Amino acid sequence: MAVKIAVANQKGGVGKTTTSICMAQELKFRGKRVLFIDTDSQCNSTKFYEAQIKDAATFVDILCGDEPAADCIQETAKGFIIPSDPLLSDAETMVKVDERRFTHLKRSIRSVEKDFDYIIIDTPPSIGVALKNVLAMADYIVIPVEESGWALDGLMDFAHAIELAQDNNEKLSVAGILTIKAKANTKKSSRMADLASSIAEKLGSTRFETMIRESVACAEALTEYYVPLHEYAPKGNTTLDYREFVNELEARING
Ligand SMILES: Nc1ncnc2c1ncn2[C@@H]1O[C@H](COP(=O)(O)OP(=O)(O)OP(=O)(O)O)[C@@H](O)[C@H]1O
Ligand SMILES: [Mg+2]
Repeated sequence: MAVKIAVANQKGGVGKTTTSICMAQELKFRGKRVLFIDTDSQCNSTKFYEAQIKDAATFVDILCGDEPAADCIQETAKGFIIPSDPLLSDAETMVKVDERRFTHLKRSIRSVEKDFDYIIIDTPPSIGVALKNVLAMADYIVIPVEESGWALDGLMDFAHAIELAQDNNEKLSVAGILTIKAKANTKKSSRMADLASSIAEKLGSTRFETMIRESVACAEALTEYYVPLHEYAPKGNTTLDYREFVNELEARING
């Protein structure tokens, strides 16, 4: 059965999409069977995968129409994906309010879980119906953080949402806090390590030793050229960091 890992943080622009894509691409590079799910109406990872939205079944159909996941999966040059749709921002408010509203995704993917080793989920920067559906089905959450005075803001609300989800999803745990855009060997990176550790402690987890360094190549590869980072910059700092991070993540999951 697939291990289901969500990359989440209720804050915007902290590297959720970058981390989920780099993780999924690294695992695929290692020969793992990976399914990517985009649950954000911004559709950033859907664009990276160059998946179809028009005339295609998407995450919106899962949330609003109980579409089986098998009918929403597209295979692109970058792998298997269930795309999102910009309509999701409206659709979220139209999900029927009943006791099943947070388990649409969980029920939908059940029949395809055996076909994959990993299901990696990119999430939106808000705690709404989409994210709650993710928390109801995920096994692990990776929380990317970036140094800023506001890194801790909203995190307690997120911790509370995780706790609530754990009432119905006993498997759910925080795999760790991942520091992104780290400046190598500077005082800032050690401050960042302390900050990440304190965030992790509040969530009953620890920070990953690996920090993802900042690089121009990272943004270029994913947002301009739609190329996996390990192909665009095979020996780049950020590529090596994501590789090391996946080693650490797999050790935590399997250990
Ligand atoms: N290691 C890195 N080095 C340089 N730029 C990075 C790095 N990681 C992420 N970025 C850039 O930071 C910006 C935000 O990253 P990303 O889109 O992954 O965040 P996000 O949390 O998914 O945002 P949102 O909340 O809007 O979905 C992007 O422009 C991305 O290219
Ligand atoms: Mg994003």
